[in-house]
Amino acid sequence: MDTNLQTVEIERKAEVFNWPFSRIATSLEASIIREILKISSRPGLINFAGGLPAPELFPIEQIRECVDAVLTNSGPASLQYSLTSGILPLREYLAEHVSKKGLPVTAENITITTGSQQGLDLVGRAFLEPGDYVLTELPTYMGALQAFNFYQVIYCPVTMDKDGILVDQAEEKIKQFKPKFIYLVPNFQNPSGITMSLERRQKVIDLAFKYHVPIVDDNPYGELRFSGKAVPSLRGIGGDAVIGLGTFSKLISPGLRIGWVVAPIACSKVIERVKQATDLHSATFPQYIIYEFLKRGYLEPHIEKIKVAYAHRLDIMESAMRKHFPENVTWPHPEGGLFLWLQLPEHVSTMKMLNESIEAGVAFVPGRPFHPDGSGDNTMRLNFANATPEGIVEGIKRLSVVLKKYC
Ligand SMILES: Cc1ncc(COP(=O)(O)O)c(C=O)c1O
Repeated sequence: MDTNLQTVEIERKAEVFNWPFSRIATSLEASIIREILKISSRPGLINFAGGLPAPELFPIEQIRECVDAVLTNSGPASLQYSLTSGILPLREYLAEHVSKKGLPVTAENITITTGSQQGLDLVGRAFLEPGDYVLTELPTYMGALQAFNFYQVIYCPVTMDKDGILVDQAEEKIKQFKPKFIYLVPNFQNPSGITMSLERRQKVIDLAFKYHVPIVDDNPYGELRFSGKAVPSLRGIGGDAVIGLGTFSKLISPGLRIGWVVAPIACSKVIERVKQATDLHSATFPQYIIYEFLKRGYLEPHIEKIKVAYAHRLDIMESAMRKHFPENVTWPHPEGGLFLWLQLPEHVSTMKMLNESIEAGVAFVPGRPFHPDGSGDNTMRLNFANATPEGIVEGIKRLSVVLKKYC
C-alpha cells in the first residue's frame, strides 16, 4: 500500500481527534435505568428496574391489523413527511379526549411528540435558561431531571406526603426562588406511586394563579387506576395554567414513541417551533397506527385488560414482600401505575446494594437519582408490572436475601 495513504488513514482515526464537545454535553450523566437495562438481558435476571410495560400484553394482533389497514388505506401519506404538530385526525381525537376531562380544547392545542420524554425536552426548550429554577416533587421522575438538566437549571424540590407535595413548603420556595414552572406527576407518581389528592391539587392550582407560575402536569399513568376513586386532572381544575403531557407508552406500546402536549395556543405555537428545529415532526407511520387503533375502539378494552393484569401483579408483589422482606422495609400502597417505592432504614445505601442484587439475579432502581437534592439513598423503586407472576415471586425472594443482609 502507498505509504502516504497509510499516514492519512492513521491520522483519520478518531482517537487522535480532539472532539470539541460542548461543556453541557460532556457534563450529562447517563440514566442509571438505561445502564441497568443494558445488563437486563443477562440470562435469568429478573428485572424490576425499568419502567417497561409487560411485553406479553402488547396488543400485537390488533397492531398488525392497524398496520395493514394504514398501508392499504393511507399508504403514501403514512410514509410521507407530515405536520410538525402531528397528523390532524390524531390531534382531533386527543382534543376530544382531553376536553372530556376539563377545559375544552381543539386540535390547535395539541402537539404530537416522540413520547412524553420529548414533551419534557420541548417544555425545557420553550421555557428554561441557564440558572432558572424549576420546582419539583421530592422524589421526582429522573427522566425529567435529565431533560431539564440540559438547560442548566436549579431545582427546588418540595417534600411529599401521601397526598402529594406540601403546599406551604411549595409556596415558600415559589416566593424565594420564583421558579419558571412547577413540574408534577400527579397520578401514581414515578417513582413513589403517590397520587395527589383533590384538595392538594386545588391548592397547587391556587398557587399557580397567585404567583403566575405555570404547572407542567406529566401524566403517563393516570388511566392505570386499579382501586380507589379517580381524582380530577390538574388541567381539569387549573385550565390554562397547566401544560399537560400525555403518552401512549404505558397504554399501548413505548416502542411506537407517541405522546402529546396539550397547552394554551400561545404555548402550542412556541412548542411547535422548537419541535420543528428538533425533528421536523414525530414519525408519521406510528401516528397513523395509533390513530387507527383508537378509531377501531381498541384502546379502552386494552386498558381494561392490562389494568386487571397489573392489579394482580401488584397484589402478588405486595404479598411476597410482606412474606419475605424484613419488617423495617416499608412502602405506600399504590392505587395504580407501575411502581412500588420502598423505604429502607436510614443507614442503608441502595446504590451500594445494587451490584450484589444483580449478582443475586434481580435488578431494581436505587432511589437517589430521583432526588434532585442528592438525598434518598435508602429508597428503591420496583416495577411490579413487567415481570410475570412467577418471576415476581422469585425476584422478591432473591431481593429479600440481599435486603436481610443490609437492613
Ligand atoms: C413520569 C414520566 N414521564 C415521562 C416518561 C417518558 O415516557 P415516554 O417518553 O415513553 O412517553 C415516563 C416514562 O417512564 C415517566 O414515567
